[in-house]
Amino acid sequence: MNRQEKVYTPLGLYVHVPFCATQCDYCAFYKEPPFRQNLEHYLRALLLEIQTIHDERTFDTIYFGGGTPGILPPKAIDQIAKILHSKMHKIPLEWTVEIAPNTVSIEKLQHWKAAGINRISMGIQSFNEAILHTLGRKQTSQQIFHAYELVRSVGFTNVGIDLIFSAPGQTSKQLLDDLSTAIALNPEHISTYCLTYEDDTILKNKLGNGSDENRDHDFYGMICEFLETNGYGQYEISNFCKGNYASAHNRNTWLMYEWIGVGPSASSQYHGLRYTNIASLNRWATGIENNAPERTDVIKLTKKTLAIDEIIFGLRMNKGVDMEKNIFRQEVAYLVDDLQTQGLLAKEKQHIRLTPQGRLLCDAIAKEFFNALE
Ligand SMILES: C[S@@+](CC[C@H](N)C(=O)[O-])C[C@H]1O[C@@H](n2cnc3c(N)ncnc32)[C@H](O)[C@@H]1O
Ligand code: SF4
Repeated sequence: MNRQEKVYTPLGLYVHVPFCATQCDYCAFYKEPPFRQNLEHYLRALLLEIQTIHDERTFDTIYFGGGTPGILPPKAIDQIAKILHSKMHKIPLEWTVEIAPNTVSIEKLQHWKAAGINRISMGIQSFNEAILHTLGRKQTSQQIFHAYELVRSVGFTNVGIDLIFSAPGQTSKQLLDDLSTAIALNPEHISTYCLTYEDDTILKNKLGNGSDENRDHDFYGMICEFLETNGYGQYEISNFCKGNYASAHNRNTWLMYEWIGVGPSASSQYHGLRYTNIASLNRWATGIENNAPERTDVIKLTKKTLAIDEIIFGLRMNKGVDMEKNIFRQEVAYLVDDLQTQGLLAKEKQHIRLTPQGRLLCDAIAKEFFNALE
């Protein structure tokens, strides 16, 4: 292939910031307490790790996730931004930072804005104090409204909020109240996640697996209907937005484009490999400092892996998957017909997508495709 034939593929950067001021009972993400020593060690190694990136492309999207990236002090924000700017030809199309309402300040928001961040993702989970308490989420609804106001006052025009539904004991009225309050804030983007009882979390240790599949399905149906009716189009199983405010970073990862993950526990899909940085601040930092990064779950990406993932992640998106070029088109034809007969999947020429009924069973359907191809 000569240079002119080379097809441009987007490149994303994911920065994992593993610090949280408080511990939520349901959360299984890798995180550490934000002690000064931890933060300093993290920052030194992070700047080194970013220095090791050499790619002729600039980052199309950047995503600071956590943990709570919003916890970083202004000086750290400036240092990270400075080194990132030295690696880019232009400000990325989309640059997101996740914040939690209890660690927001106007000064930090101003630094994020000055650095070039143009999208805020705020973890709200619920506006209901009793549900927040059940989830072990240490924030008040007043803190949420105040944080949201600060974000807008600094001039961010692309704001997403995260909600969790099906907390223990949540009623349909409480869910609808959360949704009504969410849309009254008028964010550009809303993500809704069904509470997962993750292993080794305080919540699971306390309650075991408290999922109620029927209620989850009912609530999910209510959410889709409510948000669609109120101007938030669904574009992925858990994601809704106004107009064209879909998250470009997440969409590019679901489309199997490349991204580089930096920070402990960050995953990458890059140069034909998929891998995860070790989920330990000290081991990750030592590896970076010794030029011997410690990685786990290293998978060589074959055409087969990418084709399976293209179907599995593609079906999570409302747009679905174009099977025209997928090498497994023939192998899954029987499953596609079967799901179509059940009303779970729609097919137009070679394009397949889940129906609203199918979306309720997305994980089970993904498993069927996976089993058929593995
Ligand atoms: C990567 S987390 C980090 C966000 C940020 N630390 C915060 O909590 O505000 C992104 C989102 O995942 C969701 N999440 C985390 N753990 C979950 C769980 N066990 N079940 C459902 N959703 C979860 C929450 O909605 C959260 O806002
Ligand atoms: S949900 Fe967010 S704030 Fe809570 S412990 Fe997990 S990463 Fe930290």
